[in-house]
Amino acid sequence: MDLILRHANLPDGRRDIDIGIQDGRIVELTPAIAANAAKEIDASGRLVSTPFVDAHFHMDATLSLGLPRLNRSGTLLEGIALWGELKPQLTIDALIERALRYCDMAVARGLLAIRSHVDICDDRLLAVDALLEVKRQVQPYLDLQLVAFPQDGFYRSPNAQENLIRALNRGVDVVGGIPHFERTMAEGAASVRHLCEIAAARGLRVDMHCDETDDPNSRHIETLAAETLRTGLEGRVAGSHLTSMHSMDNYYVSKLLPLIAESGVAAIANPLINITLQGRHDSYPKRRGMTRVPELMAAGVDVAFGHDCVMDPWYSFGSADMLEVAHMAVHVGQMTSQDAIARCFDAITVNPARILGLADYGLEPGCRADLVVLQAADPFEAIRLKANRLFVIRGGVVISEAPVQQSALHLAGRPERVELSCP
Ligand code: FE2
Repeated sequence: MDLILRHANLPDGRRDIDIGIQDGRIVELTPAIAANAAKEIDASGRLVSTPFVDAHFHMDATLSLGLPRLNRSGTLLEGIALWGELKPQLTIDALIERALRYCDMAVARGLLAIRSHVDICDDRLLAVDALLEVKRQVQPYLDLQLVAFPQDGFYRSPNAQENLIRALNRGVDVVGGIPHFERTMAEGAASVRHLCEIAAARGLRVDMHCDETDDPNSRHIETLAAETLRTGLEGRVAGSHLTSMHSMDNYYVSKLLPLIAESGVAAIANPLINITLQGRHDSYPKRRGMTRVPELMAAGVDVAFGHDCVMDPWYSFGSADMLEVAHMAVHVGQMTSQDAIARCFDAITVNPARILGLADYGLEPGCRADLVVLQAADPFEAIRLKANRLFVIRGGVVISEAPVQQSALHLAGRPERVELSCP
């Protein structure tokens, strides 16, 4: 074999497993593999996971913090206005440089698949061309899936309808939308219908920013589910954000959840951004804004978490760390049981992999050998510590590694070294 990882703990609870890898694929996954390999890594009872997957990101805006100025109010709407100020100043080289720098950070964090929305409202389609080039360059080590996103409205922005088709023709993978930002509820619903028809005609997936508002009457998710069924797109559509569900009437939600489940529409929450941007018009109590994650999961809906933003007009923080995203989701969603924490780990790994349609993703023989060795014993500890990524492996090749994190203590009568993980 080319590589064997020994003494691994797996996310599903299996312990002390060896993972044999040959020709870029997992070939064996059992306790104590007898064969030898050209290279061996001793995981020493640490967690070995499939890579992290970010279901919702904006790579065209990332790492642009402060350009051309900072967001003073911190609101979603000032962020959109600020992005509008920055757009005329964008250059393709700067877009590519920032995106590649972000992908480097992502690899170091074991984040090897990202679905990024790309704004198509600029007639030059600079961001589209830049991210298609980035997708080509990172393809050997990172799966970048692009969504044609009409940030200023599919109907509301003058050339967005034409630009969206141009972007798809250039190779953008997924149809986006933003129905709650159209001029009226009726135009929002019409945009959902129109965009689903485009996706169905082209055999593409759909991922819309949907109801990213505190307005409980923003119910475009209902239309998205119904249109998914009408156009035969079951299992290929995601609703991103869905924050209005946080504020909806419980009776209405009791009808809505089964409809979403029936349609196979996936839900993508963005906990860091939702807790920061929603509830801005509230005094006290302030709403949290994140969609109803535990209830969606209980209804059988595929739920994933996205980072959404890192150092851009909407969010100053972040470092490509999907464990930080899951950590926030646990808190905002009060998902503190061991079972719920495990499902939050799924929401940054296997669930988004399914939503993106990633081929050969998984921890079974035959899957591509994409793996992350974490300085943690299990998914709970990985989220608790936002654990160090010791090895990141793509196709059986180590593409990033980091030393074990520990501190030297200078305390009489105490150990000389301390690690935060407790295997
Ligand atoms: Fe977004």
